[in-house]
Amino acid sequence: MLGSSTAFTLLLLSGAASTAFGPTFQRCPADFQLVRRGQTISAAESQYIRDRREKVLPDAFKAYSQNVKRTRIELPKYVEEILESTQFPTVGISTSGGGDRAAIFGAGVLNALDGRNSSSVKKGTGGLLQAATHLAGLSGGSWLLTSLVQANFPTIQHLMFGDGKKQDFGGWLTSFSVWTVSTDPAEQAIFADEILQEMAVKAKHFPVSVGDAWGRALARHFTNGTTVDNFFSNTSHGAGILFSDFTNLPTLASHEQPFPIIVLDIVSNHINGTIFPGKNGIPLNSPMFEVNIFEMGCYDDVLAAHTPTKHLGTTNESLCVTGFDEAMFISGTSSNLFSERNNTASLAMSTANFSLLVNETYPQSPGLRIDTSNYPNPFHGIAPDTFSDSVETILSMCDGGEDGQVTPLQPMLVPDRKIDIIIAIDAVRARAKIIRRVRLARR
Ligand SMILES: *[C@@H]1O[C@H](CO)[C@@H](O)[C@H](O)[C@H]1NC(C)=O
Ligand SMILES: *[C@@H]1O[C@H](CO)[C@@H](O)[C@H](O)[C@H]1NC(C)=O
Ligand SMILES: *[C@@H]1O[C@H](CO)[C@@H](O)[C@H](O)[C@H]1NC(C)=O
Ligand SMILES: *[C@@H]1O[C@H](CO)[C@@H](O)[C@H](O)[C@H]1NC(C)=O
Ligand SMILES: *[C@@H]1O[C@H](CO)[C@@H](O)[C@H](O)[C@H]1NC(C)=O
Ligand SMILES: *[C@@H]1O[C@H](CO)[C@@H](O)[C@H](O)[C@H]1NC(C)=O
Ligand SMILES: *[C@@H]1O[C@H](CO)[C@@H](O)[C@H](O)[C@H]1NC(C)=O
Ligand SMILES: *[C@@H]1O[C@H](CO)[C@@H](O)[C@H](O)[C@H]1NC(C)=O
Repeated sequence: MLGSSTAFTLLLLSGAASTAFGPTFQRCPADFQLVRRGQTISAAESQYIRDRREKVLPDAFKAYSQNVKRTRIELPKYVEEILESTQFPTVGISTSGGGDRAAIFGAGVLNALDGRNSSSVKKGTGGLLQAATHLAGLSGGSWLLTSLVQANFPTIQHLMFGDGKKQDFGGWLTSFSVWTVSTDPAEQAIFADEILQEMAVKAKHFPVSVGDAWGRALARHFTNGTTVDNFFSNTSHGAGILFSDFTNLPTLASHEQPFPIIVLDIVSNHINGTIFPGKNGIPLNSPMFEVNIFEMGCYDDVLAAHTPTKHLGTTNESLCVTGFDEAMFISGTSSNLFSERNNTASLAMSTANFSLLVNETYPQSPGLRIDTSNYPNPFHGIAPDTFSDSVETILSMCDGGEDGQVTPLQPMLVPDRKIDIIIAIDAVRARAKIIRRVRLARR
């Protein structure tokens, strides 16, 4: 066991900056609606897409079609007509799970679609990222998505490698693994204690689990505030960066970014349908959830309900929670595989079992799952006949790929989004193909 309680106590006494972060309660705004029912998109999303289509897409499609033409590729007449009209297709990009490999592979593909990269422009692929309306990420793909969005949509080079400035985004810090950051037990213990300490404010009012520790560890890699130099130091490490606050970033306020969406699954005691072959996880008939900058919810028939992302953690319309939607807690939910036994992520945890560490530091009620990411259930009592978890007070959530959907296509299939084209970035199949090619080449 790596958490040394002495180091932990010392850090607690010193009152690290990070303990100031955590959800808070206040009276709900007058017009607050806890649950929005239905399968239509929110008014806010609808407005975002309308503004993007009006203000950003005309130039984006013009630039992209020029890039394509410069390669002297003959476009079919109807394609040319579409690109030159104002009836642009609605393009969604879905970037898959598969851990660090998927985040890095997805980043490579986004770079190839990015109109800011001159090599991509020369190849005629650059510009599609700017012309897309939606960008969905799942698991490792959600790390890329969250990282890109929170850094205010920089180029992929800037995002992954940082630009060396202090206080800026420090790059993805691939020299540290997520859980086991040092071979020196003392250094590893400092890391574990900092992570546990960062959960203290939240733990006073909410259930905490391995999902919170995972989010705090991931934040060091994928959000602002951590560099190689300050990795072990007492700074906020991206705590307090909220998913709903992204709307204030200049490139979201100006609609320059595609609309970001993250996919999650639910771990239910009530659902016992068929499990996707080869998976150890979530039945195929489980409802799928998403978090976007405005709402968290489910478009499937069984629930068809949504709650404001900004007030996640809230369960009634009198007392509202803010600050629960920590960006890497949500992305950490989309990549939480710890409920699936014997996968590589769970096994890697055996050297630093954060489920156990969290539960030792903040003892949870015996019924609570400590291997999932837990959300107070805003849908309590909603759709009781079809949504069996309607009876639960806590929704236990996990990796969006646990049901076999490794590339997040589902958000793109919501009819009201009216998506015409999906670009699927599938790091899992790509890996299988590369391995097959290497094997064939070796033969
Ligand atoms: C951590 O940061 C806080 C606030 O900046 C400071 O008061 C505290 O002394 C620091 N603790 C350590 C161990 O450096
Ligand atoms: C464009 O992408 C390529 C491939 O990753 C990279 O080598 C190059 O530096 C990028 N160019 C710019 C201007 O960012
Ligand atoms: C993260 O850093 C980038 C680059 O400095 C900045 O533009 C962006 O606003 C920051 N994001 C947040 C959420 O603070
Ligand atoms: C699945 O759940 C239903 C309803 O709770 C129950 O009747 C059935 O026995 C369960 N099947 C399995 C295989 O556990
Ligand atoms: C609303 O939720 C809060 C926090 O969970 C709880 O303390 C309070 O009793 C609830 N109020 C009502 C009217 O249910
Ligand atoms: C998990 O691994 C253990 C030990 O290697 C093994 O006994 C067990 O059967 C495995 N469980 C599953 C569900 O594969
Ligand atoms: C971690 O601790 C939990 C809770 O005691 C236990 O169920 C799980 O098997 C442990 N995992 C590993 C990989 O040791
Ligand atoms: C978490 O801690 C509580 C209180 O000590 C205990 O009752 C519960 O069994 C623990 N949960 C797990 C999964 O180890």
